[in-house]
Amino acid sequence: MKNILIIGSTGQIGSELTMKLRSNPQNTVVAGYIPGAEPKGELLESGPAEIADITNAVQIASIIDRYKVDTVYNLAALLSVVAEAKPLLAWKIGVDGLINVLEVAREKHCAVFTPSSIGSFGPDSPKDKTPQDTVRNPLTIYGISKVTDEMLSNYYHHKYGVDTRSVRFPGLISYMTPPGGGTTDYAVDIYYSAVRGETFECPIAQGTYMDMMYMPDAIRAMIEIMEADPAGFVHRNSFNIASMSFSPEIIYDSIRKYIPDFKMVYKVDPLKQSIAESWPNSLDDSCARAEWGWKPEYDLDAMTRDMIQRLQEKLAS
Ligand code: SER
Repeated sequence: MKNILIIGSTGQIGSELTMKLRSNPQNTVVAGYIPGAEPKGELLESGPAEIADITNAVQIASIIDRYKVDTVYNLAALLSVVAEAKPLLAWKIGVDGLINVLEVAREKHCAVFTPSSIGSFGPDSPKDKTPQDTVRNPLTIYGISKVTDEMLSNYYHHKYGVDTRSVRFPGLISYMTPPGGGTTDYAVDIYYSAVRGETFECPIAQGTYMDMMYMPDAIRAMIEIMEADPAGFVHRNSFNIASMSFSPEIIYDSIRKYIPDFKMVYKVDPLKQSIAESWPNSLDDSCARAEWGWKPEYDLDAMTRDMIQRLQEKLAS
């Protein structure tokens, strides 16, 4: 049995992770949220919900005490594009917030998962099949926060024995909750345009590759790494994971197999493009495969089939 707190439960990842963890009747899953981003519908009705502002350590500690929480999924963050507009807030949430969580976890003996990202790499990193351990030097405040988070998580593990674990996520694609303000968001938006019959204005230039992943694989990765036997770990914070790498014209071609008259034009956003160009084309996830058995299930066409079908149902209702 696990007692779990999700910080950021109403976001793109949190909304699906909370429901998946609640589908196991052995778990008690507290949906943590901030005012203005309250849980609704089945997220609200299927279990407890508490205000859990990551900048408020006392509030986080009180929830952990009241629900006897043993595992925290820390999903609070500003994505890359929004973070460039608000770098100090990105740091406050991403880094100061993580220190709050790690300190409480140290005192109360909780395991902590904090996602990292392809954004933790930079233009000096090898571009293709970027290795697990290599030069980083990210250019964005998002990436700098993620590298710092990885190091802080390792520090709390080595120094205090806190069970910190993490993966470096690619761009995540889902049909339930939209992402907000990421460089990879175009790969979600393109499906909405296709299903609505609109022409898609692509903010990323032709030929720009980034790693992406369908949300069911990402949710499974988060659960599997927290359930893995740490005896197999050489790394902890954070593992490269991967499932597909594509550029705009490749996802466009995948969608046109199902919606042949779909149209796309390029309207490149300079900030998004410069961030995308500073990130890897694809990651090498062999350490995650070897150390805890990571294996993706969805490739691009399998994801496209499912996204189109689910969005057709969602947008029709
Ligand atoms: N999806 C994130 C972003 O685009 C990267 O991890 O900011």
